[in-house]
Amino acid sequence: MATQARHDKLRKEMRPPPIELDEAPDPVKLLETAEDAPGLPEMNIFPMDWRTETPKLMQIYDSARDPGWSPNKLPWDTLKPEELTADQRYAISYWFALLAVFDASGPAVFSRAVIHTYETHEEDPIRKAFFSVARDEMNHEEVCGRAINIVTPGGPVNHEIETPLGELARNNVQWLFHNGARYWNAYKNSLHKYPVPMLFTSFLFGEVASSTLFHGMYQETKIPVLKEAFRRIGQDEARHLGICLTVLQKVLPDMSADDKEMVTKQIRAGFIFLSGVLFEPPEEFWELPSTFKPTHRLLEKKAREAGLGILSLEEREANWKKAVLQMKGFIEPHGIEFPALPEIGVDGKTTAFDPNNLIPVF
Ligand SMILES: [Fe+2]
Ligand SMILES: [Fe+2]
Repeated sequence: MATQARHDKLRKEMRPPPIELDEAPDPVKLLETAEDAPGLPEMNIFPMDWRTETPKLMQIYDSARDPGWSPNKLPWDTLKPEELTADQRYAISYWFALLAVFDASGPAVFSRAVIHTYETHEEDPIRKAFFSVARDEMNHEEVCGRAINIVTPGGPVNHEIETPLGELARNNVQWLFHNGARYWNAYKNSLHKYPVPMLFTSFLFGEVASSTLFHGMYQETKIPVLKEAFRRIGQDEARHLGICLTVLQKVLPDMSADDKEMVTKQIRAGFIFLSGVLFEPPEEFWELPSTFKPTHRLLEKKAREAGLGILSLEEREANWKKAVLQMKGFIEPHGIEFPALPEIGVDGKTTAFDPNNLIPVF
């Protein structure tokens, strides 16, 4: 009680004396002496504002606040390593490592994109939409990590391997990571070069690819936890696709001719990169040893045996072509030429692959 009284006394002494009304500063006079704040540098997150130019984007963000699922609540006990052969386990681990090259880069890629949208002062819902994509991608990355750790604890690289196919799988993964690292460098170095609207066309391609892939995997997979994961990830990817389409509908009509030409190049680059998981890695960009493809095919067969819904090469080609044509149908009416993609028999403008334009991601 004594302490309380002392505190009250102290507080009273510290309080400034009340301002007399006639002493209160006159705002008009105060304004006359106000100094302007220094100007702000370019590409800074300040000044801030919270404008909404595309209300539909805010609605999508609202629907993404709760994605409706969580990787830690999936029935992971239905993935039973003890019921699989060693090679089947390596094959499942391998496939998720391959997927991770695309999906596990998502959190880092979109986190950088979030910062970029702040620096380029995009409208509030664009910043928030990217943030929600980064959060979703963290869930997708977690699924890859959990699946890998169940079938190959410590994997895909730091796991004790007992068979030749397992060794080959690890070697393939190391090559995939090598290419993933090259992708990451290209992404980091090119992000700041492009206006945000153009980035969205690249992201769109990634989302078209991923929603196609996960839909197919969901239908074919027999292992309950992975089937459910693919269904949920597919839903997220469809939402990301919706975000990209909404932004592009707004910005494409005003895009300059030069930017449109750049989009054509980026689509070609995106096709080469994304073919690594949607189809087969093309010679361009992908630096892979001669053992890569035969190993990849053996592992796919093993993973399929174990219940993972990997589509056949023919099905993948058909699916990928369908997704690409969907992309073409969206892009062309806006006066953007689609690149020729002879690898899957799609006509268009002959476009050289430019490794500095690698932006797409799941
Ligand atoms: Fe995505
Ligand atoms: Fe994803």
